[in-house]
Amino acid sequence: MSELEITDFESLTRPAVRAVTPYFPGKPIAEVQRELGIRRVIKLASNENFMGPSPRALAAIRRDAKDNHLYPEGASPLLRQALAREHGVEPNQVLVGNGSDEVLRLLCEVLLTPDDEVVVAQHAFIRFKQHAALMGAKVIEVPMTDWTHDLETMAKAASARTKIVFVASPNNPTGTYNSRAEVVRLLKALPETTIVAIDEAYYEYALGQSDYHRDLVSMLAKHPNLLVLRTFSKSYGLAGLRVGYGVAHAELVGWLDRARLPFNVGLLAQRAAVEALKDKAFVKRAVAQTIKNREALAAGLRKLGLAVVDSAANFLLAQPPIPGHALFRRLLKRGVIVRPLDEYGLAGHVRISIGSVAENRILLEALARVLEESPR
Ligand SMILES: Cc1ncc(COP(=O)(O)O)c(C=O)c1O
Repeated sequence: MSELEITDFESLTRPAVRAVTPYFPGKPIAEVQRELGIRRVIKLASNENFMGPSPRALAAIRRDAKDNHLYPEGASPLLRQALAREHGVEPNQVLVGNGSDEVLRLLCEVLLTPDDEVVVAQHAFIRFKQHAALMGAKVIEVPMTDWTHDLETMAKAASARTKIVFVASPNNPTGTYNSRAEVVRLLKALPETTIVAIDEAYYEYALGQSDYHRDLVSMLAKHPNLLVLRTFSKSYGLAGLRVGYGVAHAELVGWLDRARLPFNVGLLAQRAAVEALKDKAFVKRAVAQTIKNREALAAGLRKLGLAVVDSAANFLLAQPPIPGHALFRRLLKRGVIVRPLDEYGLAGHVRISIGSVAENRILLEALARVLEESPR
């Protein structure tokens, strides 16, 4: 043993790290099976695609599994090219990440110092403020209006020290979205020195909304401070592979790329994403089925007395008559995982991802039982 023993590791950490609240992911199925000894467990807690991955992506994974002794190509060139074609931009305007979460992290690592500020909405996707806090930046939280990002107030909250304004549309966990007109006004209101990061993780689910911002990338020519984020984790059904990306000005992408780990996206992840991108029919089917199931589930939840926020994504924000965490624990005992939202400041709510017809039925049955047992 070394003579010098460190017992106070906290004193070694950067102060900013101590200020970061831990992220609690949706509880995994295998963990619940181990802890509670239940075989049938369904997970409606991480907004995954209940239809699984696209068959084309699965075929690519099977075909290329034999290549896994090789490092992947570092900058995901084929996927980058395919995404550039998809968005009508140059490949050097696309940054592929280990999930879009990595692109958010890179943005904060590259831009933020403790002298900087970021602006987020109060119940926005929590990773925005966690990444910013990790860099020691000041996080300014702006209240929502009707569970929706109030972009006008967010623009007013930005100062000369604001490096990034984050917007998730649709937002997790509220499921609400902003209109194209609102986003355009935000871009016009902010100086080019403030990066506007629009997180479109649930883009494909929102396309049915006539006023949704379906073509933001086209605004890049006019607004070089825009960064649009997308992911393969939701409608493409590849959450386990970890692939997401950002589209932005080539120069900004170049800086983010400098901080990227050399092999940030796995070989199978790159190849499966290239195939998944071609399988538009799968995404269309998955989105249509999800929306159908979402509307049925929302009606079922309301019938059981829960308040449900209208959603443009693949999950619902719901307020049960008992605290969110109590509901989470009781449903867990019945083999159903939903997401409590205490860290979002929404202790009275839960987030429920849309499952298959059978999964949603199991959830509603378990919920009915739990609410029967619980004093309201
Ligand atoms: C709004 C939003 N953005 C980004 C992400 C990150 O997704 P991924 O890192 O899997 O691409 C999520 C995941 O739930 C999300 O809800």
